[in-house]
Amino acid sequence: MIIAVLNGPNLNLLGTREPSIYGFETLADIEQSLRQVGDELGVFLEFSQRNGEGELIDCIHALRGRADGVLVNAGAYAHTSLAIRDAFAATAIPFVEVHLSNIFAREPERRHSTLASEALAVLSGFGAFGYELALRGLVRALARD
Ligand code: DQA
Repeated sequence: MIIAVLNGPNLNLLGTREPSIYGFETLADIEQSLRQVGDELGVFLEFSQRNGEGELIDCIHALRGRADGVLVNAGAYAHTSLAIRDAFAATAIPFVEVHLSNIFAREPERRHSTLASEALAVLSGFGAFGYELALRGLVRALARD
């Protein structure tokens, strides 16, 4: 099973970016922990981070027919991007939406996700650990299909 882990804008700065909200773990730390979980579950993980909306869409298109599922933290695009939601709808790849922070407890403009209606599940507020929870949930859901 191949699972893509797709991170959006500004997540390359994790570790130093507003650590009181996003924690001190870097994206490389998250990747390292997820790889251990991936090995435990017997799934192959592919990581990408892009700052541009179009670049993220290109990544989603490139996963068509290749990835079994996606973990996505689209960053601020989660609140605004119909185009990213359309890319998931068009490719029909099951995905779980992840956010480090609890977006529903933040500023009003962050309390809505444009992606959530297409997502298998949404995990928001568990920090970096949320990626692990999301991976376990996604793999279990896909294994049942
Ligand atoms: C985020 C939440 C978004 O509102 C923000 O723009 C991010 C990170 C999170 O992981 O909590 O870039 O997706």
